[in-house]
Amino acid sequence: MSIKIYGGKSKVKRNISLPGDKSIAHRALIIGSLPKGEYKIENFPNSLDCLATLACMKKIGIVAKKNNDEIYISSPGYENFTKDIDEINAMNSGTTARLISGLLSGNATKCTLQGDISLSNRPMERIITPLTLMGAKLEHSNNKLPLKFCISEKLEGITYELPVASAQVKSCLLIAGFLAKGKTEIIEKNQTRDHTEKLFKYLGANIQISENKITIENSPVNGRDIFIPGDISSAAFLIACVLLGRECEVTIVDVLLNKNRRQYLEILKLMGADIEITYQGKVNEEEIGSIVARSSNLRGINLAREAIPSIIDEIPVIALLAAFSAGQTVIEGIEELKHKESDRALAIVHNLKILGIDCEFKSNTLIINGEDKHIDKDVEINSFNDHRIALAFICCAMRNKGQVNIDDWDCTEISFPNSIKYFQEFLNIIK
Ligand code: S3P
Repeated sequence: MSIKIYGGKSKVKRNISLPGDKSIAHRALIIGSLPKGEYKIENFPNSLDCLATLACMKKIGIVAKKNNDEIYISSPGYENFTKDIDEINAMNSGTTARLISGLLSGNATKCTLQGDISLSNRPMERIITPLTLMGAKLEHSNNKLPLKFCISEKLEGITYELPVASAQVKSCLLIAGFLAKGKTEIIEKNQTRDHTEKLFKYLGANIQISENKITIENSPVNGRDIFIPGDISSAAFLIACVLLGRECEVTIVDVLLNKNRRQYLEILKLMGADIEITYQGKVNEEEIGSIVARSSNLRGINLAREAIPSIIDEIPVIALLAAFSAGQTVIEGIEELKHKESDRALAIVHNLKILGIDCEFKSNTLIINGEDKHIDKDVEINSFNDHRIALAFICCAMRNKGQVNIDDWDCTEISFPNSIKYFQEFLNIIK
């Protein structure tokens, strides 16, 4: 279904709390259920990606009772997970596919892992190569899903330097490494989100983290309740709306402030955004707090390759903000964007051009010549059926007096369930 937006509201001031962070939710189900016992997950996001992980984990052996955003889980422990499963389906979710591959291989489970068309076209060689080096037996065609996990002996620990900066690959190998014989050492040149490390630590696993090396080995772990802070990657879009608005303010409470995820906020501040961050402490090792954002005049920014892993999901919305910022924005080293739910580099340039913005993508660098202005143009945004493209481009309506139509809006349920409820505080939306 498509949606239509007729401009933004001004002078709006709102307090918002958001569904839990998607990355932590996947891990709460997959890693949280490794110990035998019962635990509760609070503020679970009912996003399609996380529900896909829940469905897979039920087939693998957990019993889950869901009550809105709370889930009560009873796990038999990884030793007693089902070892012969016909098929599980990660649907659209790369995180589900890659993390569960670590579990299936590490636990010597016979199973075929499927995905939807988008996921079946995404690269899996990045997990197949190291899992095979650890001793996993995998059948596939052309390094893509479906992946058939054929029963194998216990895996051997590995020392592995990640060739691509990817938290999904790192997490896959840490889960496999936890279940393997001996030690696993993962070296990453560029730090990526560290929710897997934090959750293993919270459960009491033997995991050591030094600057660019993580070491894990099998050890007893304890089931513990997990509270999922609000998703900072969903907050990113509401903050963008407010920044582009006139005299608007949003306070987002109980939101994730993990240091690998809050870089978006630091970048916005460098662009001139009026943002305040208040830390409240930690829940299950994750920093949590609140963010206040106010409408601001923004300027362009240069982002080097090293900055990318911490803002990988926020590049579409940064690009949209850059379009309405004074001066040029240059974002380097974004080749990984081509391997997301859509080719996001292409999707960004396509939609910015529809808005009449001067931009180009060449040599893995995105160049946007922005202007701090309003436009007045009826536009058709192509979501490319990619949640983060639709969610980023809805924010353009704050600066467009014309009508904005976005196709396949339903794809936003992948990561931000019921997002209209939040956006309509700031935008005039007709579904
Ligand atoms: C995620 C890692 C990132 C990110 C994805 C979620 C995770 O992917 O784009 O939305 O939860 O580990 P990569 O690690 O493959 O870049």
